[in-house]
Amino acid sequence: MSPFRLTRTLPEDATGAALRADVRAGLTGSPRTLPPKWFYDARGSELFEEITALPEYYPTRAEREILLARAGDIAAVSGARTLVELGSGSSEKTRHLIAALGGLHTYVPVDVSESALAGAGRALAAERPGLEVHALVADFTAELALPDTPGPRLVAFLGGTIGNLLPTERAAFLASVRALLAPGDALLLGTDLVKDEKTLVRAYDDAAGVTAAFNKNVLAVLDRELGADFDPDAFDHVALWDAEHEWIEMRLRSRTAQSVKIPALELVVDFAEGEELRTEVSAKFRQEGVRAELAAAGLDLARWWTDEEGRFALSLSVAR
Ligand code: SAH
Ligand code: TRP
Repeated sequence: MSPFRLTRTLPEDATGAALRADVRAGLTGSPRTLPPKWFYDARGSELFEEITALPEYYPTRAEREILLARAGDIAAVSGARTLVELGSGSSEKTRHLIAALGGLHTYVPVDVSESALAGAGRALAAERPGLEVHALVADFTAELALPDTPGPRLVAFLGGTIGNLLPTERAAFLASVRALLAPGDALLLGTDLVKDEKTLVRAYDDAAGVTAAFNKNVLAVLDRELGADFDPDAFDHVALWDAEHEWIEMRLRSRTAQSVKIPALELVVDFAEGEELRTEVSAKFRQEGVRAELAAAGLDLARWWTDEEGRFALSLSVAR
């Protein structure tokens, strides 16, 4: 067994205070929104793992195909001794990369979901004797305090999760990633690509209803954490393609006129029949856009790989 350590950088009540602030801001604004990181309690992380196996949800399979084909190139270009993965979830695809990184000393998975981190960390430490696994329960949109480990450092951000940030949030995020790197260190970024609307919408509105359950799970989080009385069955899951912004938008649509009480915020939220709450965007990308956003943050695109069908891209960029 290798060393496995888990550090909580969030003080016990930070999550509670942040959740209350986010929910108040999101539900009193117009249009109503909720930030996506609150999807991922233990149940949400489990549902996301189910999503990755759905026939309609191609991004995980496409990204795994690229990782399997290119892990050797990534190892050669980065020479990484420390791999930091943001939003690592189950780390399931990452094991292909870890296997190829011969000189790897430490793996630092970072996620808000402690349940996902604990499961993934144990499996990896058992799989690769000698590898240090230092898991961080942390919010990757906040400032990260990484352990002091040997370089070169490779930061991986997979799954197209960058698309869940809005454009202004993305720019701030990429600048903060750049700040974690020394010149010559690298970022491995997974981005889902623009494609036909039908394929995209199906990936976020599957026939078995798993994505609908995942979307509604955020209401269960508010019920449990804030004593709210959302009835998940009183909302419909909606996924639509916004062609102007080139993103998928996930919403919850109130089936009736209803009032929801949120005691922890001393707040009552009135929904009109058909009123929608935006829960997540999932932006889709093109190579030139990715190159420009990276360059603006001080990262030079060095490699761009797609799966055979051209659905998803992995890029490797190097800090200037
Ligand atoms: N990388 C995995 C999981 C992607 S799902 C894959 O490619 O399959 C997105 C992951 O990011 C979840 O595990 C979720 O818990 C985590 N996450 C979402 N917002 C986060 C935030 N602000 N800070 C840290 N982790 C976050
Ligand atoms: N990063 C994933 C994506 O954008 C997250 C995700 C997949 C998701 N399906 C979802 C988020 C459904 C909310 C609802 O593809």
